[in-house]
Formats: sequence, C-alpha cells, structure tokens
Amino acid sequence: MKLRIKRDMLFERLSSSVLETGLLDQLKAFKQHGSSNCYDHSIAVAKASLYLSLLLPFRFKDEQLVRGALLHDYFLYDWHIEKPEKLHGFSHPHTACKNAKRDFADLTPLEENIIKRHMFPLTPVPPRYRESVLVTLADKYCATKEVFAALRNKFSRA
Ligand SMILES: [Fe+2]
Ligand SMILES: [Fe+2]
Repeated sequence: MKLRIKRDMLFERLSSSVLETGLLDQLKAFKQHGSSNCYDHSIAVAKASLYLSLLLPFRFKDEQLVRGALLHDYFLYDWHIEKPEKLHGFSHPHTACKNAKRDFADLTPLEENIIKRHMFPLTPVPPRYRESVLVTLADKYCATKEVFAALRNKFSRA
C-alpha cells in the first residue's frame, strides 16, 4: 500500500477524538501563512508529521503525535490583526497550550510538549519527545510551503 494512502487511513482514525468535537473548526476563521488558514495548516502539519513517523525507522506514539500536531496552533486569534502582548512567534505556543488544556481535558504531557515546543529553535527550550521533534520539522516544512504558494500566486497574477 502506498505510504500516503496508509497515512490518510491512519489519520482519519487517529484524528477523530479532536476533529469530532468540532472545536478545531474555529481555526478556519483565522488566517495563517500566505492564504492558508489555521485549520488547513494544522491538518497539513498533522498529516506531514504522521507521514514522517511512518517513513522513519523508529516507533512513535502516533495518536498523540496527530492530536498534538492538530492542536499546535490552537491560539484562537488572528495574529495579523490582534497583536498579543509578547511577539506572536514567541507567545502563541503557550496560548495554544492553555486553550488546548481548557478544551481537551485529556491532553497528555506529550501532546502538551508538542504544542509548547513547536517553535524551537525560535523559542529556546528544545522539544522533549521525538514526536515533538517531528512536529517542529513538519510545521516548518508546511509553513514554508504555504508562504511559497502565496508568493507564486502573487507573482503569477502580477
Ligand atoms: Fe505555531
Ligand atoms: Fe504551525
């Protein structure tokens, strides 16, 4: 079976405890990088993290990996409009973690760490678990892709 198909089947099962609450839908209202919104970005990061987990020859806790990745940007505001007290890049992992703990009472320490440390090395404390490392990598990959897609659109319209 192709890895992408296997990933998609697994993703459907592992993401259901978060997606079926409907709470993540709130992220559709908030713009993220380029023309993507926080919801699409979070799904993309969770899928890319799971893809890496299937690709690498190590064991990962896939359900917590997917749940943490889905919630990594659960900060619930538009950072292009609202300016938080501290710079968004530094403060949003903590805001996302606080919101996730409030809305998902069963959040595990591993999921918390994924959310809190996903901006490493911008935020200096490194991720504690290998799942957290995967999400930091997947997040940067997806963010870069989203920014370049927006630039491509901008220049093709010019
Ligand atoms: Fe983030
Ligand atoms: Fe992100």
